[in-house]
Amino acid sequence: LDVPQRALTGDLPEESRVGELVRDAHSRFAPVTHGTVADYIPVLAEADPDLFGLSLVEVDGTVHDAGDTVATFSIQSISKAFVLALVCDAIGHEEVHRIVGVNNTGLPFNSVIALELNDGSPMNPMVNAGAIATTALMPGDTAEEKWWAVREGLSRFAGRSLELDERVLRSESASNHRNQGISDLLTSYGRLQGRSEEMVDVYTRQCSLLVTADDLAIMGATLADGGLNPITREQVVSPEVCRDTLSVLAACGMYELSGEWLFEIGLPAKSGVSGGIVAVAPGKGALGAFSPPLDRAGNSVRGQRACSYLSRALGLNLF
Ligand code: DON
Repeated sequence: LDVPQRALTGDLPEESRVGELVRDAHSRFAPVTHGTVADYIPVLAEADPDLFGLSLVEVDGTVHDAGDTVATFSIQSISKAFVLALVCDAIGHEEVHRIVGVNNTGLPFNSVIALELNDGSPMNPMVNAGAIATTALMPGDTAEEKWWAVREGLSRFAGRSLELDERVLRSESASNHRNQGISDLLTSYGRLQGRSEEMVDVYTRQCSLLVTADDLAIMGATLADGGLNPITREQVVSPEVCRDTLSVLAACGMYELSGEWLFEIGLPAKSGVSGGIVAVAPGKGALGAFSPPLDRAGNSVRGQRACSYLSRALGLNLF
């Protein structure tokens, strides 16, 4: 089948071809040297800019990967997508809409002015303000219980127990004055449930969980298959929760460049400052990419190019 036909039928090309295209995307974009490794969290600046892993996991559990797919890195903002799913599961569609919101701010992920311009509304769960507010909505009476629920929930998406990187946690905790300010501002608007300092701590912990490109693709493929983990076959969340989560990723997952991403790649996706990207092809599977150098909005340069190439070659664009 050619690309437009595949997009219409929903079929991926035959297995051997998918693996070949993933390896091809890896060798094509490995030489790209654009982008800058994030350094506003000091320990992230130590990342090796040459690391590049690409993984595609189909909803039947088939894994195709190339490059550094077992290298671990802190999940950072990609955690926001899966915490949103867990919160949608816990409190439902209406409450997430009412308390956090689902519209793009059009401003950077750590913008303070976005809060001031919107009467203290965090606007969506993908920017830092909205993610802290969303983490605060996790089940649990104490910060410790919420953290346990986050870690356990994200581990179910990955199909393995995710570890915390203590060095990343310490480095970010010592330098996250901006997130603390954002969280205090949310509190002043009456828009944060729980104690500001504790909620920022749970959020910072969730960002410090270690994953691989393979993990990201498995986590994304779980969203692609209505909440069923393709490896463990566990139903992690409901199909309705996946629909809610993917719609927010489409609108806000790549921050102020979400429109361009959708225009070029046509898939709901989420990026993180350590260089990860997960892109979800509903009903088919997901791509997990890892490469530390980022563009100006904080999205991995090689990761974006690889997703763009594979979206076209595999006919994944939803539109
Ligand atoms: O709160 C922060 O700034 C980081 N823990 C996560 C930011 C992030 O990954 C934004 N992604 N592109």
